[in-house]
Amino acid sequence: MIGNINHIAIVVPDLDAAAAHWRDMLGAEVSQAQTLPEHGVRIVFVRSANGQVELMEPFGEGSPIAEFLKRHPDGGMHHICYEVANIDQARATLEAKGARVLGDGGVKTGAHGNSVLFLHPKDFNGTLIELEQVTEGEAH
Ligand code: CO
Repeated sequence: MIGNINHIAIVVPDLDAAAAHWRDMLGAEVSQAQTLPEHGVRIVFVRSANGQVELMEPFGEGSPIAEFLKRHPDGGMHHICYEVANIDQARATLEAKGARVLGDGGVKTGAHGNSVLFLHPKDFNGTLIELEQVTEGEAH
């Protein structure tokens, strides 16, 4: 069911410092920062040929990653995002097998404008998994 890894998201306490660090230490190609107020994050992408790492810091009041940063003040891995071709089908299959979809269980629009859902970390070895519907051609 799952396709490529689209991104691995890492919460950081200071996005500009982290972006410079990944660029200068690892020689990584790092995108310009983007603020996504409706998602409560500011992000950069660390690009590589077969996927990307998304560094994110909280933005604004009530950011969904503010609590995570309190528990992990130096930052840490937040979720893995897999691509799927049909998110409604993926959700139905997973729920039928007993997996829990976070929130009200509905599909939402994610940070890249595509439909996403999140699966409960307790169902996947302590790891938050995001599924993102990616149509052919968008996939990389
Ligand atoms: Co994500």
